[in-house]
This record gives sequence, structure tokens and C-alpha cells, in this order.
Amino acid sequence: MTEKFKKAAEFILSGLNYKPTVGIVLGSGLGGLADVIVADKIIQYKDIVGFPISTVEGHKGQLILGTLGGKKVVAMQGRFHYYEGYSMDQVTFPIRVMKFLGVETLVVSNAAGGLNPDYATGDIMVINDHINNFPHNPLIGKNIDELGVRFPDMSKTYDRELINRAHQIAANNGFKLQEGVYVGSSGPTLETPAEYRMLRLLGADTTGMSTVPEVIVAHHQGMRVFGLSVVTNGSKPADPNGETTHEEVQNVANSVAPKLTVLITKIIESL
Ligand code: HPA
Repeated sequence: MTEKFKKAAEFILSGLNYKPTVGIVLGSGLGGLADVIVADKIIQYKDIVGFPISTVEGHKGQLILGTLGGKKVVAMQGRFHYYEGYSMDQVTFPIRVMKFLGVETLVVSNAAGGLNPDYATGDIMVINDHINNFPHNPLIGKNIDELGVRFPDMSKTYDRELINRAHQIAANNGFKLQEGVYVGSSGPTLETPAEYRMLRLLGADTTGMSTVPEVIVAHHQGMRVFGLSVVTNGSKPADPNGETTHEEVQNVANSVAPKLTVLITKIIESL
């Protein structure tokens, strides 16, 4: 069952004299972080057997291997979304492959809508928990016993120590860091005003169309997970008529890039 992951991993590692220990997934408009990775190798997704091809504007579709924060990393510049029509197996394929690359810690980021009325556009939230609101779970199907158990405990999915360190890093660098719950839904529609209210009532602080599948798979296979949401459109329940465009999401995400870069670099340095 793991042959296809091993094959892709072997291809990715060919010609490299190390294995990355940190995996990074860069969300919409957050690909700029890739610029600070000192790259040794860049591989287009289309050249990796088994990888789907990213179709969203602002998502580049390449894998970068290099150094960040003094660690060897593998970064996905562009991810695969369920709303693009990919199966959950396809969406999470790169995360499975990362296991065979040697990745121990996964850093995920996303652009998200703010549900918590205290959040403002441009805020960064460290994720301490999630709600899977996708109509599917990536672990449905035969369990890959070699990688993880059939019924994974999800009580400590987001590493508390890394969350605490993130707060410290934000304080040291003079910016505010929110902490809360991310809810992931299929998209591609953004939420109706009633849906924003519902997701807030369910207990979420940010809402988006990614992350949850990747995190479930990473946790299943024993990876340490650190997640960040960039609030690209704030306080929806308080401002239900404010419209959101993909361009706006990308612009806000881009403007937050410097803070995100500091946070992710320092977290990786601390590992
Ligand atoms: N909802 C869902 N996904 C998003 C949003 C939102 O408001 N903003 C950015 N991604």
C-alpha cells in the first residue's frame, strides 16, 4: 500500500545527500515564505509520479528542498484542495510521501476567514484544534497499519509546546498572535452569512477549505503538527454583508508574509 509513496520519495530525494525533517505546506498567497528557503532542489509537482497538479491561481505547484531555520526542510508551494475535484487520497498524497522523506514535524498554513469577532483582517492565529467539516475523512478506507492505527486519538493533534513557543516568538517580535480553532469545509463557495454564524456557534475561530485533511494524515502517521491561519477576511458574523474575493484573500495573505516568515523560521529553528 505504501509503494507509491516510497517511489515518489525516492525520486524526490535522488541527488540529495540529506533527508528533510520538517515539512511545510504554504497556503493561498503565503508562497512567499518559499523565498527565504535556501533551496537545493526545486521539483515541479507534474514531474512527480502520483502528485496531482495544482489548479488554483496563486498556488505555484512545486516542491522546494532546502534549508530554513538551520533545518533541512521540504516545502509545498501550493497544495491540493478537495474542491478542485481531487480525492482525499490525492489531497493528502504529499503528506504520506513526506513520511517517507523523513519528515517528523509538519508546519501548515492557510488563508482563512475570521469567525471570532475579536479577530481582525491580517491577524495570525496559531491553530490549537480543528473541526473536520469536510464531507469525508482522508482515513476512510483500508488502514495503512504500517503508518498508523485504525482509530487515531485526536486529543493532542496540535503540539502544545510549539503553540507556546509561537506565543513567545510573537511577543519577542512585537506582534499579536491569536490562538484558536480552525474549521475546514469543502468550498469552493465561501460561506453564506448563516453558515458563518453556524460555524461560529460550532466553536470555530477561523474557517477555510484546506489543512484538516493534511493534518489528519500527518497525525495518523505520528508527525508533530504546527498550524497557522492568516485571517484574510475578518469577523464575518459581525459584518455579514462584506464580500470576499480571492484577490483580497491573496493580497492580505501577502501583506502578512513578513510576520509569518519570522514565526515559521523561528519555530523551525527551535526544533
Ligand atoms: N471562508 C472559507 N475559506 C476562506 C475564507 C473564508 O471566509 N477566506 C479565505 N479562505
